[in-house]
Amino acid sequence: MKPHKIAVIPGDGIGVEVIAEGLKVLQAAGQKAGVSFDLEQFPWGAGYWLEHKVALPPDALDILGRFDAIYLGAVGLPDQVPESVGVGQVVLGIRSGFDQFANVRPVQPVGGCPWYLQHRKSEDIDFVVIREATEGFYCNIGGRYAPAAAEVADIIPMRPAFVRSKEIALQTGVFSEFGCRRVIRYAFELARRRDGRKRVTSTTKSNALTHAMGMWDQIFEQVAGEYPDCEHEWAHVDALAMRFITNPERFDVVVASNLFGDILTDLSAVLVGGLGFAPGGNLSETGPSMFEPPHGSAPDIAGKGIANPIAAILTAAFMLECLDELEAAGLIRRAVALVVEAGEVLTPDAGGTATTEQVGDAIATMLQQ
Ligand code: IPM
Ligand code: MG
Repeated sequence: MKPHKIAVIPGDGIGVEVIAEGLKVLQAAGQKAGVSFDLEQFPWGAGYWLEHKVALPPDALDILGRFDAIYLGAVGLPDQVPESVGVGQVVLGIRSGFDQFANVRPVQPVGGCPWYLQHRKSEDIDFVVIREATEGFYCNIGGRYAPAAAEVADIIPMRPAFVRSKEIALQTGVFSEFGCRRVIRYAFELARRRDGRKRVTSTTKSNALTHAMGMWDQIFEQVAGEYPDCEHEWAHVDALAMRFITNPERFDVVVASNLFGDILTDLSAVLVGGLGFAPGGNLSETGPSMFEPPHGSAPDIAGKGIANPIAAILTAAFMLECLDELEAAGLIRRAVALVVEAGEVLTPDAGGTATTEQVGDAIATMLQQ
């Protein structure tokens, strides 16, 4: 079998630490399931910018385009490098560069993970959040202006505070009809494929953001009509955030635009034990997909060896699944579940005293058994 070509971008901070463990477990799973990888590491990110004044080389997308998948840790050194550079060029640049429109973030607790809800059991919760990942408020369109500047004076109905300000900032969200329909369809297709409740929940805020979210709501209703075998429902994002806590068991597939999905998936990560347990991936239909845990580079704990590698390890399992290596993916998930269930080798966020490396070793060892 031909090896899977995987570009590895560990990034900054704990990204480097957790990807090392993710690769260890990936290799162990590959060995056991007879899958091989052709891995190439790229040192791009905020740290790279400190030396080279670019976060990645100009031909980065050409290089990455030759791979089957990208495995990314986390990018950002916010105290030293502007976020628009590290995060903007690498994470957001790759997502939009390869049109990775579907950011998939499963919410499936592994038995024994930290549990924050008193009124629900972990085994009742199993859903996935699909976040549109290429448009919305992440298009970086806007600017900072004097209120009297022609660019803004002509389009903004002035309010007292605007007039009294030295500057005003605009951040424009761009929502395309194609982009909304594509990600909503993806959510319904997933609901069909999943062995779940066949229910898609859409979230917007069309009572306040009438143009863009009004269009999203309309498209959602149209697409729902194409999937009569699936239930559909919608909730404003504020109400949905509440229901993630009060009734998390009712969700199957949740679909959201970029910013709302970002916020909701930090919340949903808490339902699986925290960001240290939450995997994710950005899927493209035309180029390589990129698999990255939603947690950031966490500079506050970087270098201490205490970052939880499980999110990155489960992200590797998700990558294998998308590469159609179901056996290897299953081996990783099983090993993670057994180690978490045993509760002996866990990092401090999960109530343990183990290091990042010890957790990776325990999972890789469990996988051999
Ligand atoms: C995430 C992160 C990123 C995002 C940041 C680093 C730009 O929070 O993947 O959820 O907002 O998409
Ligand atoms: Mg986020």
